[in-house]
Amino acid sequence: MNVLHLGNEVLRQKAVSVPEVTDEIRELIRDMFVTMKEEDGIGLAAPQVGQSLRLFIVKADDGIDRVFINPQILQTSTEMCSYEEGCLSIPSVYEDVVRPERITVQALNERGRPFTLEAEGLLARVIQHENDHLDGILFIDRIDPKTKAKVEQKFAQRAEKQGL
Ligand code: NI
Repeated sequence: MNVLHLGNEVLRQKAVSVPEVTDEIRELIRDMFVTMKEEDGIGLAAPQVGQSLRLFIVKADDGIDRVFINPQILQTSTEMCSYEEGCLSIPSVYEDVVRPERITVQALNERGRPFTLEAEGLLARVIQHENDHLDGILFIDRIDPKTKAKVEQKFAQRAEKQGL
């Protein structure tokens, strides 16, 4: 699957809930895991592969393949932390982003079963980053506006060069 880059409007749309976890959805998830591995990522949201659905996958430092369908972040810690983020949709850009250190998230798994997960560290970080994608939010929206403008300009120029 092709990963969409900054400038593609699908990345800015609010994704819709997955009505039912069907075989088609499971196939999409399998394809997304292949793509994430190929691209050497630790998280991938459906809108990044052009599917505006509330679904993302994560493989953080614990090495576990995790699927989140129709996720909801129920709780966030008041404690915040800063971490350098990147995104497969914004290649070669890495910036520090401040987010809550711990979260509680509820979602459906690939079998359509609900689960609740308390996460901290890198896992909490990736879940929040991917969850943002479902609302059309990118990590550059959470950094200093001047840096964001530079990144957007760079990607606009690149798109123009490629005739997109
Ligand atoms: Ni991302």
